[in-house]
Amino acid sequence: MGNLYVFDHPLIQHKLTYIRDKNTGTKEFRELVDEVAALMAYEITRDMPLREVEVETPITRAKCKVLAGKKIGLVPILRAGLGMVDGILKLIPTAKVGHLGMYRDPVTLEPVKYYSKMPSDIGERDLILIDPMLATGGSATAGISALKDIGARNIKLMCLIAAEAGIERVQKEHGDVDIYVAAVDPELNEKSYIVPGLGDAGDRLFGTK
Ligand code: PRP
Ligand code: URA
Repeated sequence: MGNLYVFDHPLIQHKLTYIRDKNTGTKEFRELVDEVAALMAYEITRDMPLREVEVETPITRAKCKVLAGKKIGLVPILRAGLGMVDGILKLIPTAKVGHLGMYRDPVTLEPVKYYSKMPSDIGERDLILIDPMLATGGSATAGISALKDIGARNIKLMCLIAAEAGIERVQKEHGDVDIYVAAVDPELNEKSYIVPGLGDAGDRLFGTK
């Protein structure tokens, strides 16, 4: 079964509180999501491999470390995943970005895929699938399956808030995928929104209703 990592850094928790607050407007919501995404990227890259290089400092030669050239791919699930991309790119600016268009049918709650454009070398990249909300888990599991269908092998799932039901579903259907979240919420309501959650992430990011 994949691991679940909850990033409880005080800065992440502080910002997430204002993201949840219904009185936070679109501009501030977007800025906070961007900031939390960058902080989560810092944590999620902790296990990146390093290699040794030699550099000449103004004083002497020194053996130092640089990233070992792992290829990273970010895949936001449209729309809401887009809100986290720039924050992550601030820390991993060379990552390639694929886009997966998927929305949750409001009646059936089933994910509907409507767009996919991925880097051609997707099978060689470590992928981070990004979606702020993991509710029933339908969108994330369908997203992971879509990536595996085109050759992806190494996938991490990064969300702001995950419901326990969504975590269980991803772990059951994709036991090889680790999940990284800022918070785990206990419930879904009758419309399968996360409780307490933050409302509709896409609408709050883009000012739609
Ligand atoms: C939201 C959210 C996830 C999905 C989560 O997307 O961004 O993709 O719902 O729900 P699930 O775990 O039950 O599948 P939505 O369908 O609202 O589309 P949007 O991002 O375009 O607003
Ligand atoms: N999608 C959202 O945007 N919010 C939820 O709480 C659940 C699904």
